[in-house]
Amino acid sequence: MSTTAQTTSITELAERVDEAARRVAGLDPEARKAAEELKEAVEAVHRAGLITIVRRMRADERARELLFELVDEPEVRMLFMLHGIIRPDPMTEASRVIDAIRPMVRSHGGDVELVRVEDGVAYVRLKGACTGCSAPAVALREGIEEALIERVPAITRVEVLPPEPSPVLIPLSAVRFGRDDGWVRAIPVEQVPDGRITPLHLTAKDGTEQEAIVVRLGDRFTAYVNECAHQAMPLDDALLDREAGTITCPWHGFSFDAESGECLSMPGAQLERLPLRIDDGHVWIKVGS
Ligand code: FES
Repeated sequence: MSTTAQTTSITELAERVDEAARRVAGLDPEARKAAEELKEAVEAVHRAGLITIVRRMRADERARELLFELVDEPEVRMLFMLHGIIRPDPMTEASRVIDAIRPMVRSHGGDVELVRVEDGVAYVRLKGACTGCSAPAVALREGIEEALIERVPAITRVEVLPPEPSPVLIPLSAVRFGRDDGWVRAIPVEQVPDGRITPLHLTAKDGTEQEAIVVRLGDRFTAYVNECAHQAMPLDDALLDREAGTITCPWHGFSFDAESGECLSMPGAQLERLPLRIDDGHVWIKVGS
């Protein structure tokens, strides 16, 4: 059976929606309200149906596989995003907010790094003009805080972490022999190419082995278990898109947020993140944790 959706490109479909929205916006207030109510009612029906379909498919092993494939179709992904079925996690949303405001922060001589989001709290580190007690520094901090709280519904508070500890402040002995056992001095920082995925084979002191990848985007490093969340295939040849901040698996094209590991193709799937720290000019990765 041939349908409009099957024969029309996603761009044409989106243009058709835009054109209809423009026409609705031009209606008199009473007619516009009725049209908007109709739109909301139809969307509510669609959303309810889609949620049921996704729930049932996720619960069935064979259907889940098909759902994984379907979510990768642009029109299906757009539909799921429109209905809030695929939603970035707070860390991904907050990273996007930080990326959006970073040029402004830098233009004032400061910088901000999002470290993590936990229980509604965004933890950030500040640099340059964002630190100190001067009025501009306070204004910058408040701007960052406001942007995160206003634009990420899951964030209710922002906490500023102290500057990242230096090797002088954290002796390597503490890393090697203390309760931090499992940390592996993986690779010198300068050997990790920017904008690339670096596969590594790690061996901890206790013999634990781990295949990992390090993702570098500028001065941000992230480590993951070298297994796609889809079928655990290796990600050595995955594509890192630094513009979009995504990793695309070469095997079946699933896409992941490069900094959080969240799967953008399938709600709930996730790359397994490994603890990473920079110390002594090296990337350290904890394995077996
Ligand atoms: S998308 Fe299938 S293994 Fe990665």
